[in-house]
Amino acid sequence: MSVADVQNRQWRKFDPYIVPVDKNAVENILRPLDLSDDDYHTVMQSMLDQMERGLGAATNDTAPIKMYPTYVRAVPDGTESGEFLALDLGGTNFRVLLVTLKGQEVKMDSKIFLIPQHIMLGSGKHLFDHIAECIYRFVKEHNLMERKLPLGFTFSFPCRQKGLARAMLTTWTKGFKCEGVEGHDIVALLHEAITRRGDLNVECLAVINDTVGALMSCAHTDRKCAVGIILGTGSNACYIEKLEKVEMAEGNEPGPPEMLINTEWGAFGDDGSLDFITTDFDRQVDKHSINAGKQRYEKFISGMYMGEIVRLALEKLRKNGLLFGGEGSYHMATRGRFYTKYVSEVESDDTDSFPMTKQIFQELEIETVTDQDCRLVRHVCALVSRRAAFLSSAGVACILNKMKRPEVTVAVDGSLYRFHPHFHDLMMEKTRVLAPGIRYKFMLSEDGSGKGAALVAAVANRILAEQKAKGNPETSSAV
Ligand code: BGC
Repeated sequence: MSVADVQNRQWRKFDPYIVPVDKNAVENILRPLDLSDDDYHTVMQSMLDQMERGLGAATNDTAPIKMYPTYVRAVPDGTESGEFLALDLGGTNFRVLLVTLKGQEVKMDSKIFLIPQHIMLGSGKHLFDHIAECIYRFVKEHNLMERKLPLGFTFSFPCRQKGLARAMLTTWTKGFKCEGVEGHDIVALLHEAITRRGDLNVECLAVINDTVGALMSCAHTDRKCAVGIILGTGSNACYIEKLEKVEMAEGNEPGPPEMLINTEWGAFGDDGSLDFITTDFDRQVDKHSINAGKQRYEKFISGMYMGEIVRLALEKLRKNGLLFGGEGSYHMATRGRFYTKYVSEVESDDTDSFPMTKQIFQELEIETVTDQDCRLVRHVCALVSRRAAFLSSAGVACILNKMKRPEVTVAVDGSLYRFHPHFHDLMMEKTRVLAPGIRYKFMLSEDGSGKGAALVAAVANRILAEQKAKGNPETSSAV
């Protein structure tokens, strides 16, 4: 087969009608975004290595993937019941929820509060005062002022936990940078803000990561669920590990011989191990982010960065006269302006006339957009999202191979996975190749952050009540 044939086959994989002006020039620019199975295998091997180092007490310090113990030992058994408050902080929105559990029945009432940019980048005190104010407004509206409800907090940032309700933030991610929180216990900061107000009767019993929420919420109905992943603004995974392997956990509480591990896989590659697949576009995204050099794996795959990778690739093609007849615009030259939701829209578009794609570029003030331009844009989006989906599969496959269970349900949540038209199918396809012999399915987690936090708080509350009944003096308050 000639080189031209191979190239043609490559192009046809995406769109049989695509005829770029200068195929070779386009190929040269985009080729680095197209990875091989060998690349994905190398990624998996290196991820496995870093995960093992993260688990080990002697190696954790220098391991980029931190594999944090969560102190969540058991998945729910479906008998949990009661009313719980849940908080969900992890993106631009903050939610307060009232969750009612009754066996398999779950009722949720929630309210969304916006976290303005000046709070995301302001002081920690300001952030937690804002959170306490939102809790107050919610509790008041729901006539819960007179009751003391157990509270679970889904806090979706990397935390070194020392127990279910002690979580030190190690580093902010996803556009947050509040001063005075890194290195501090976020439960203590929340309780301090509550005490400052003096009008709230709330105690936080458990902090969980959103991956843990997703896993717990799916495990509530599917006992095979043992992995939880988030593909949204950020990305991360958790899974069930044998307790004997969790060298970093403190204490020796009785319970099942397992613990959920919050891998914080987003930091994979922070030691340079993903440099071999890093393109110029990725380097620019990282350089201009507020956490340069950090969360390198997350920057390949998550919603916060994918649109920007596409924008940079489109701009490069345009500047080389290969797209839009070379015509640019202020918007297309603006960092962060090509949103990840556009990638999903372009890839969902009708390929006869590209109405959505044309609408997007009209908004971005590109005057002349031909069908060929639309095809090329679609091709770029497909390349970037395919790479993201396959890299996510490499992560999932690495965990599945490591767990060695014959059959696993993987709980998934996150806007990227939910709204991208092909992410699920791409992940199914590649995970099959990278984790042969394992039966798996991806299960969309329905509101894991609320339900999961309530489930963990329910278990924590039950344990506290049991300890209290046994007269353990160290027990704080089961609510
Ligand atoms: C955070 C994780 C979180 C993930 C998905 C990452 O940036 O570090 O803790 O689970 O985003 O929300």
